[in-house]
Amino acid sequence: MSSESGIAKLDLESLWHPLTQHRGLEARMPREIVSGDGVFLTDAQGRRVLDGVSGLWCVNVGYGREELADVAREQMAKLAYLPATFVHAPAARLAGKLLDMLGYAGKVYFTSSGSEANEVAFKVARQYQAQIGSPGRHKIIARHRAYHGNTLGALSATGQEERKAGYGPLAPGFLHVDAPDLYRSDRDAAAQLEEAVEREGAETVAAFIMEPIIAGGGVLVPPDDYLERVRGICDRHGVLLIVDEVVTALGRLGAPFAHQLYGVEPDLLTLGKGLASGYQPLAAMVAKQHVFEAFEGELDELRHLRHINTYGGHPVATAVGLRNIEIMEREDLFERATKAGDALLGRLRRLEDHPNVGDVRGRGLLLGIELVEEKAEKRPLGAASVARVVGRCAGDGVIVGKTTNTTRGHGNVLILAPPLVLGEDESELLAATVERAIREELPASP
Ligand SMILES: Cc1ncc(COP(=O)(O)O)c(C=O)c1O
Repeated sequence: MSSESGIAKLDLESLWHPLTQHRGLEARMPREIVSGDGVFLTDAQGRRVLDGVSGLWCVNVGYGREELADVAREQMAKLAYLPATFVHAPAARLAGKLLDMLGYAGKVYFTSSGSEANEVAFKVARQYQAQIGSPGRHKIIARHRAYHGNTLGALSATGQEERKAGYGPLAPGFLHVDAPDLYRSDRDAAAQLEEAVEREGAETVAAFIMEPIIAGGGVLVPPDDYLERVRGICDRHGVLLIVDEVVTALGRLGAPFAHQLYGVEPDLLTLGKGLASGYQPLAAMVAKQHVFEAFEGELDELRHLRHINTYGGHPVATAVGLRNIEIMEREDLFERATKAGDALLGRLRRLEDHPNVGDVRGRGLLLGIELVEEKAEKRPLGAASVARVVGRCAGDGVIVGKTTNTTRGHGNVLILAPPLVLGEDESELLAATVERAIREELPASP
């Protein structure tokens, strides 16, 4: 039992944890965490652990930012809440800031989670198509191995079998094509998208949704020209491009937005996580101006977006989000993430000599290590061996992630996504711990 304070007992009695089999949980309860600073968390016994996954890939500016706590306190004292049907400065300022950073005209719709941001993107895509005269365009094409959230629409777009099993029937109108997987497949994923659009009939397809780099599905980095080709396919067929940057926006890949790295602009963009670095539950959907304009009309024509969230555009969350971005700019975190990511990737690639390390990949500070039984056939390493590596890292004071409940048999990719403030010594501690865990827990046969 991890805690002497009784918290672990209370937790076991009261909380239902996500992605967790509760049977036998008592024996493997995670430690009670009481505080965080920078890239470190501290548990109830005072032990510090390096958080190599930024919580859930979201604490981009690192833990313990008093400045963000001050902004939240001030905003709560001044104006704790207003629905987004009203006007208030924090939401307006943050929306304006995001559009400045994006460099195009559009409109921002705030939500509290990435799942909700994707839900609104799907509704906007369908309503847009209907209102420009294509009511038959309702299908959303997504990709196998992608994750877009846990609400039923977002889950229907998700391409991870184990996340969906048992929750059907899911929403109709979602279908999936392959994502590029440079390590495992030489199929042309962009061509497959175009084939799917043609097979379904473009006049039935509303939108295509993709993560720039599939994160939870295994850190799948696309070929450099993939996004540009996808943009071309969407344009040719009148399909809206939704880029899900819930993980990748706000610095994770070393740029404000990942699509900027690939020279492509989405029609609809979703972001979350790094938007407020996890200090507040905040996410958003950004529509380009041409999409927004299709919603103009008289009120009784019902052309407006008929969607609301109680906490969308929350004053405290948006005030914190704005300051979070100011911190990123002031501390050059985009540039620092690029450099830190390149250095960490280079350091981890030393592991490629190990027989169970099939591939080391990533961009910025979103990195994956694909573990295999052996290199020739690339058979994914078994779950128990992967768990041993992750457990050893945790035992040695470093939290690393792994693909979980994604594609059956592919729980074999270690995921590293540390806060963007990762220093050189911390990076070395992270890499050395992962290296030791792999070399000692997966000893090469003589
Ligand atoms: C790419 C992507 N989209 C959407 C989501 C859903 O975001 P949330 O958990 O905030 O609903 C996630 C969550 O991990 C994600 O990785």
